[in-house]
Amino acid sequence: MNSFSMKKLILSLTLVFAVRLVFAVEGMWLPLLLGMLNETEMKSLGMKMTAEDVYSVNKGSLKDAIVQFGGGCTAEVISDKGLLLTNHHCGFGQIQSHSTLEHNYLEDGFWAKTLKDELPNPGLTAMFISRIEDVTAAALAGVTEDMDQKTRQSTVDKNLENFKATVKKEAWEDLLIRPFFAGNQYFMFVTVTYKDVRLVGTPPSSIGKFGADTDNWVWPRHTGDFSIFRIYADKDNRPAEYSEANVPLKPKHFLPISLDGVAEGDFTLIFGFPGRTNEYLPSYAISQLADVLDPARISVRDKTLAIWDGAMRADAQVKIQYASKQAGLANSWKKWKGEVLGLRKTGAVKKKQSYESDFKKLVATDAKFTKYLKLLPEFEQLYRDITPYAEAKAYYDEIMGGNIEIYRAANRFLGLVRANDKSGEPGFLEEKKKVQDGLTDFYKDYRPEIDQRVFAVLMELLSKKLSKEFQTEMLTPFLDQAGGSYEKLAEYLFKNSFLTNQSAASVVLGKPTGEAVKAILDDPICQLLNSLRDVYNLKVSPKYNEYNDRIELLQNTYMRAQMEVFPNKKFYPDANSTMRCSYGQVQGYKPQDAVSYSPQTYLDGVIEKYVPGDYEFDVPARLRELYEQKDYGQYGENGKLPVAFIGSNHTTGGNSGSPSIDANGNLIGLNFDRAWEGTMSDYNYDPSICRNIMVDARYVLFIVDKFAGATRLIQEMKLVHPKKEGSTPAKSKDEKPKLKKKAGVNSNKNFKQEVKPEAY
Ligand code: ARG
Ligand code: GLU
Repeated sequence: MNSFSMKKLILSLTLVFAVRLVFAVEGMWLPLLLGMLNETEMKSLGMKMTAEDVYSVNKGSLKDAIVQFGGGCTAEVISDKGLLLTNHHCGFGQIQSHSTLEHNYLEDGFWAKTLKDELPNPGLTAMFISRIEDVTAAALAGVTEDMDQKTRQSTVDKNLENFKATVKKEAWEDLLIRPFFAGNQYFMFVTVTYKDVRLVGTPPSSIGKFGADTDNWVWPRHTGDFSIFRIYADKDNRPAEYSEANVPLKPKHFLPISLDGVAEGDFTLIFGFPGRTNEYLPSYAISQLADVLDPARISVRDKTLAIWDGAMRADAQVKIQYASKQAGLANSWKKWKGEVLGLRKTGAVKKKQSYESDFKKLVATDAKFTKYLKLLPEFEQLYRDITPYAEAKAYYDEIMGGNIEIYRAANRFLGLVRANDKSGEPGFLEEKKKVQDGLTDFYKDYRPEIDQRVFAVLMELLSKKLSKEFQTEMLTPFLDQAGGSYEKLAEYLFKNSFLTNQSAASVVLGKPTGEAVKAILDDPICQLLNSLRDVYNLKVSPKYNEYNDRIELLQNTYMRAQMEVFPNKKFYPDANSTMRCSYGQVQGYKPQDAVSYSPQTYLDGVIEKYVPGDYEFDVPARLRELYEQKDYGQYGENGKLPVAFIGSNHTTGGNSGSPSIDANGNLIGLNFDRAWEGTMSDYNYDPSICRNIMVDARYVLFIVDKFAGATRLIQEMKLVHPKKEGSTPAKSKDEKPKLKKKAGVNSNKNFKQEVKPEAY
């Protein structure tokens, strides 16, 4: 199908749904298409804004307050001075990097007293979207259905390169073009990326990460998962590298914050940059995930995390050093466990199978679909073929990608050898600079004695789980020498490798090129990694890539086929780290027989979970005091302080830090998680159990104001009472009545409805 008929198809779907008004909140929608596809439904769910208030190219709209934060999270502007709200876990790396045992901001929190005290974060970015355009026609020019994946991709790449050269943009803008619907559509994002983003404030981890791993991915939740940053710009309000001369950004739009809270059934809009979903896969892919890939990854991380966790509990220094790495590994690990559970529980494979049997029936009855007859059998065969390679890849990815840390250091050193092989001494010297910087970071948070234990356990696991053909023979003689003990093997390798300590590594790095290369090639851990990579590159990845390319191409066809065969189904593109809206309502759920969750938690729940001195459930004294005094100020509700709530918005990783926005465009919460039973929404959204978890905006304000006393921040925000008195700004603590700031969609109510012509 060409892009024009695709557009017609989506348009006709829109009309069907506009009339039916079904209650369906699944989907992550492109903001520029809301007017065409979603506005009616959004209004039926309670939205008071127009699609144009949410996304407009011509005026300040909600989208101008939303940024991609640090490449992987979302954040939103909440003041006219570029104040940025995101999750604690999104700013975690930065908070950690400013922390020492003396100034432990992870432990104690941090609140900059003045602008001057706000802390710069090299490398941290905030990316705005100026506009979005459909560029499918340009991307797919000359692409034909009989092309193989490589030819197709290189045609598209060439097209896009030529096309980019013709796009008009400002010097400070960049272009991002991404495939949608498995490469059947392409959209361009014109972006503006700010590079001076400073840390303004963060609660202690006992609030920002309250409940840590035990509560992660779980409802009911009591985490104040937020931190505050600020975007700085040059004197012309443009992006600039960090400089003392930079000034706070004057945003096109910022979100007012509602003090009125939420009730079950209230409209919620989540705006952000969801990372990756796969909603249109065949059943074979889902079985592979639930039965093979997730269990493989989980089994590796089970082992690593058990060792790290013990070490972190035993030593405060290790707890800081491993905090960020541990949070990263543990997070996906727990998500995968929930995912497997949810896929099984909701019968995801069966559901896909029944969808596929409908698909097959329709395909069989219409001659124009004959070309789709072989699709599913081909998938079945390809998934059968790829599975052993995909499984081996999962193990290798885990083991070389962070669980065994020393392989990361080894990989950097081997990079030097590769650079030398490729471009001789100049290449080596060029690479050396990068390695030097990287190593300082690496060793700052590295404990070889911990890693050695992980190494022993995981190399043994690899030998048990992987079939012989995917294993390196290099280990055998070492292992024989160690009497078959992986612990002894690890001890020997770690003792004889220069990689285990920074000064030895620096000595090697300081040697003349030839000697350095020799030292690297003589190092036993570098040798081992080299041989593992050889096995991977020769035995795993060629077949994996071959099958995977074919699967991708087939998925491209299957996507198109699904849209043609089910013209009444409403399709949304899978998440791909581009800007999306998902809408829903505040809603509880029933995860199990006789269990029913209400949608809001309160500070009382924090106190119920309180375990003095605990690694996960300690509560700061000041917070307990405020609780005893019930000193909640304007943030309380009937004598209680709201903490978090859930909704039916379809979200995924990358939506962390996304604003939860009310019917009028005010901030009511901050997205940070999903409920355990529903993490399979990345493959199979099920409205009965898929819930996103948000910190209540009132808890954020309470912590900033009452707990931390950071009133200068409250004063620059715009607090409103949309339910009580229209949208008039509320008075914040100790504050003189403020002039109404020019912001909020409330002030842009009379936008012209103007959908971009590229839309349809
Ligand atoms: N599960 C959430 C996400 O995927 C929160 C992670 C941070 N929290 C934590 N306890 N590790 O990012
Ligand atoms: N915590 C996730 C993130 O970092 C969001 C939760 C999810 O995956 O839905 O983006």
